[in-house]
Amino acid sequence: MKILAIESSCDETSAAVVGKKNNKIIVLSNVTATSLAIHSKTGGIIPENAAREQVKYIIPVITQALNESNGNTSQDWKSAREILQNDIDAIAVTYGPGLIGSLLVGVETARTLSFMFDKPLIPVNHLIAHLFANFIDSKSRQTKSTITFPFIGLIVSGGHTDLLYFESESKFKWLGGTRDDAAGEALDKIGRLLGLSYPAGPEIEKRAKLASSTLLRFKSPLSGNETFDFSFSGLKTEVLRFTQKTTLNETVINEVCFAVQKAVIDVLVKKTLKAAEKYSCNTILLGGGVSANQTLKKELNRRVKSENRSIQIFSPEKMYCTDNGAMVGAYTLLNPKQKSWKDVNANPELYFL
Ligand code: KG4
Ligand code: ZN
Repeated sequence: MKILAIESSCDETSAAVVGKKNNKIIVLSNVTATSLAIHSKTGGIIPENAAREQVKYIIPVITQALNESNGNTSQDWKSAREILQNDIDAIAVTYGPGLIGSLLVGVETARTLSFMFDKPLIPVNHLIAHLFANFIDSKSRQTKSTITFPFIGLIVSGGHTDLLYFESESKFKWLGGTRDDAAGEALDKIGRLLGLSYPAGPEIEKRAKLASSTLLRFKSPLSGNETFDFSFSGLKTEVLRFTQKTTLNETVINEVCFAVQKAVIDVLVKKTLKAAEKYSCNTILLGGGVSANQTLKKELNRRVKSENRSIQIFSPEKMYCTDNGAMVGAYTLLNPKQKSWKDVNANPELYFL
């Protein structure tokens, strides 16, 4: 089964062709255009700008993904159309959550293609797709074939922070999530306070490694709380107060980055491991942009080792941590719930139904 998968929930326009070979999920192409440079200038995403860029990119990205899946470097719709007609079994699309304008571009394009080419359509929850990016096979990552259910999923992105318990591909329970800012959102907002460019997550990780002193501490929000909820807006306020009474220079900024990253990671690690214990899971899957953070994964592994627990931790390959079409295709191959194009609509408020 070969899937054309489309992702357009925020500022990335992505299309992929994904298939199964020897029971492994193989990415035949994954093409992503991003409007990040535009959002860097405005210090964050302006939804209307993001939607306008989606309109610009969606057809070229789909055309390229279809052509590349056949080893074809052409940007020609004629050859792409033939591949879609002859090789593709179904179309998958992210239908939420996300920005309504951005989502509409992907969903309406997918509906049109489904109707015109008479292909089944599969609507996919963006957040769940982030976790299932872990099931994508590649030469550089041999371990993913050993992912077993049940698992605890930690979704950490620019818009979401959620903990879930997965019994199977389609059966899961939401355990908790952020009460205010998402982890990535907090890093991005704090980055702005420190004068870093958007999105700040990767730079905060780099600068944290350069910190000459690691004594500065910010509170890990809701860390001692019994629930699986998170809260990161207080951390942003704490950093704001700190920056108002401190002269910022490179040394101080690096120390703040270390302390902020530590505060965020500490609470993520603590609650994820608590969830694994409560639900007797030996597998943890990370997903979303913040799961590209190597320190998060290292700290989880360090804690598992120091507590003598046998838990395996997975995070997607870096290119599949941030928004991409391949993750949408990967989830579809594991849970192909087809619908008529008439019944698929963008849902910006979609959560875990
Ligand atoms: O999943 P994603 O691409 O978009 C959403 O669905 O939100 O995540 C983007 C987020 C941004 O907040 C960005 O700062 C964060 O992921 N991010 C990171 C790293 N790489 C991206 N945060 C911490 N460390 C990183 N290495
Ligand atoms: Zn995302």
